[in-house]
Amino acid sequence: MKKVCVIGWPIKQSRSPLIHNYWLRKYGVDSVYKKLAIEPGNAANFIASLANSEFIGCNVTIPHKETAFKAVVAPDKIAQRLGAVNTVYIRDNQVCGTNTDGEGFLASLKSEFPDFEFGKSKVIVLGAGGGARAIIGALCDEGVPNMGIRNRTLGRVGDLKIQFGGSVHQIEDSELLASLSGCDLLINTTPLGMDSQPPMALDLYTLNPKAIVADIVYSPLVTPLLRDSQIRGNPILGGLGMLLHQAVRGFELWFGVRPEVSRELYDLVAADVKKVSSP
Ligand SMILES: NC(=O)c1ccc[n+]([C@@H]2O[C@H](COP(=O)([O-])OP(=O)(O)OC[C@H]3O[C@@H](n4cnc5c(N)ncnc54)[C@H](OP(=O)(O)O)[C@@H]3O)[C@@H](O)[C@H]2O)c1
Repeated sequence: MKKVCVIGWPIKQSRSPLIHNYWLRKYGVDSVYKKLAIEPGNAANFIASLANSEFIGCNVTIPHKETAFKAVVAPDKIAQRLGAVNTVYIRDNQVCGTNTDGEGFLASLKSEFPDFEFGKSKVIVLGAGGGARAIIGALCDEGVPNMGIRNRTLGRVGDLKIQFGGSVHQIEDSELLASLSGCDLLINTTPLGMDSQPPMALDLYTLNPKAIVADIVYSPLVTPLLRDSQIRGNPILGGLGMLLHQAVRGFELWFGVRPEVSRELYDLVAADVKKVSSP
């Protein structure tokens, strides 16, 4: 039987088995998707020897995404751009890797806001880590002309400017309030607002009332930033949609079936998140 897994350290928190085992049942695929706790020192070897193991592929989560990029033989263009792999698969006995975080965010945004005009929009991204890089790359590909990045560590914004060019700029503290008033999409990519983390401290009073506010944190399902935005009347996008949509391509690569992100799947995973998440 073809098996697939997700590796991370720790791995207890991963919802990937819930998502993929749901699809395996739904599409009648004879396989099983497991969680494996792999220590940092063992991750490279695990991935490099995947072609000779019981697994036909794996997802990779914190802290192994950069290690996975170095361990695969054939990272695709998206993985090369991000220097990180979250999906590993075998082709012609070679271990290949890609990164589906950016497309997961885009698919989630498009499914909830099909009329969002990428080519005319101003976007503000809070944070400049791995999630931010994946999303900024995907938004660049969609032709977003103006992306302002606000991050605690300024050097990381400089790296993004070098990589993605003229559409990306740093937002200084003195510019933030004015930038928010012209913003069409505000995205939190930091862990602030996650269970057991402090909330994102951001004054929203100048925010464009029509701006979509997105958070890639999905536990809780509605973060304090999203709740405050909702109270103001702004449309919101939670992080669970990104998690579900980023899983689609892995399943397709392993099993040859493009699975659907249905309401039933959303509710299944949301119920699991609510079990452990603070109110
Ligand atoms: N929904 C999904 O599918 C999905 C996918 C990927 C990630 N995520 C979530 O997104 C979050 C970020 O993940 P990541 O992989 O991008 O992490 P990462 O690479 O470690 O980047 C974290 C970013 O958040 C900033 N940050 C962290 N703690 C902060 C604090 N206390 N105050 C201000 N800024 C802070 C960091 O700033 P510095 O540069 O200054 O350190 C950095 O820009 C996590 O909660 C993760 O679970 C969700």
